[in-house]
Amino acid sequence: MYTAPRGTHDILPEEWPYWRTIIDEIHATAARFGFEQIDTPIFEATGLFVRGVGQGTDIVDKEMYSFRDKGDEEITLRPEFTAGVMRAYLENGMHVRPQPVKLYSIGPIFRFERPQAGRYRQHHQFNVEVIGEQDAAVDAEVISLAWHLFSRLGFRGLALQLNSTGCPRCRPGYLTRLVAYYNQHTAAICDDCRRRLQRNPLRLLDCKNPGCQPIIAGAPRIGEHLCEECANHFADLRSHLDAIELPYTLNHRLVRGLDYYTKTVFEVYAEGIGAQAAVCGGGRYDGLIEELGGPPTPGIGFGSGIERQILTMKEQGIAPKPLPQPALFVAYLGSAARLAAFRLTRDLRDADLAARLSFGARSLKAQLKAADRAGARYALILGEDEVKADVVAVRDLRSSSQQAVARADLIDWLRAHLA
Ligand code: HAM
Repeated sequence: MYTAPRGTHDILPEEWPYWRTIIDEIHATAARFGFEQIDTPIFEATGLFVRGVGQGTDIVDKEMYSFRDKGDEEITLRPEFTAGVMRAYLENGMHVRPQPVKLYSIGPIFRFERPQAGRYRQHHQFNVEVIGEQDAAVDAEVISLAWHLFSRLGFRGLALQLNSTGCPRCRPGYLTRLVAYYNQHTAAICDDCRRRLQRNPLRLLDCKNPGCQPIIAGAPRIGEHLCEECANHFADLRSHLDAIELPYTLNHRLVRGLDYYTKTVFEVYAEGIGAQAAVCGGGRYDGLIEELGGPPTPGIGFGSGIERQILTMKEQGIAPKPLPQPALFVAYLGSAARLAAFRLTRDLRDADLAARLSFGARSLKAQLKAADRAGARYALILGEDEVKADVVAVRDLRSSSQQAVARADLIDWLRAHLA
């Protein structure tokens, strides 16, 4: 017996009310904010992610599903959306469209992680990108979009964490200070941090190891070393969030696990799914498009794990919208009625009336039981007599009353009674 690969899961029919509730709300939210949908391939050239997400990040160093395909191309299953969307922006000349270009996507993401609650090897993201505008109002709009979605879904206990990680002008100076500080404490830090100190010093601030916490607490703070432009941008963003009373906490340790971020970074947490599991994370990436070979173009976006949104709904007891079930069940008795039932079912569906059809040669009792179990409102019964008289026996499954309706009047009758 085969089982689903570790860290993946089947989305069974009973899970779909959650998925549909969230996906419907995503489309509605995106429309309210004036975003357009884009789909990019699930796999891309490996180099795109190495370049975009950055060597030295966990994603690129440890988590990518990379392989050489049968045409000898180096391919990677996308470990995030942003790099692929930027590639699409460049490849399709989207810079000639009115800027900013506001895009969203929904789809699977692959990361070779250690599976645990809310952390999978295949998960799905709702991803948002705004490309071509550096106004801090865009940062605020992107954040408020996430907030709006989660509020519409009924999430409680939302917490937004905010930071600025500077830009190529001010960050190197900060990193020099950070490295100098850590070099005085190498004996006290964990092995991972010793590695981070060499490869990706900003990530030192993100260490969860208890022994490293006092060192982090004493580390220089990036907020105190921002250049004027970054400091003004951050203040402008904050004043926009204040204007809509969107609450946030400043977290000078928030640095995120992807290399492309500049200036704004943020994460949103929801009550009930654990402090380690952000329901949304993102930030500004003003250097990414240039890094990928395009002209200097600012951008900002976020990704939000749909499985984590579902966990939040479940933990908070938020009921999804039930999916509609056919109100009609077509039953038949005897071989003479079999094809008539098949034809009737076709006609119902053509008339936009959802219907299930009975299969096999079962007793009327068994068919009515099946109709009941399927949650149908009416059973439409055809036997030899009904076929001859060109009528359908309509049985109301709530009242168990039954009446003959002429075949020619049936669609109108059903429309009137189901309305
Ligand atoms: P990220 O923080 O790596 O950012 O992922 C975004 C969100 O995806 C997380 O906040 C979390 O909700 C969900 N997520 C990530 N990994 C997993 C996993 N293994 N299992 C379940 N859920 C997960 C990015 O991917 C950036 N591309 C976001 C972005 C867009 N930044 C700018 N634009």
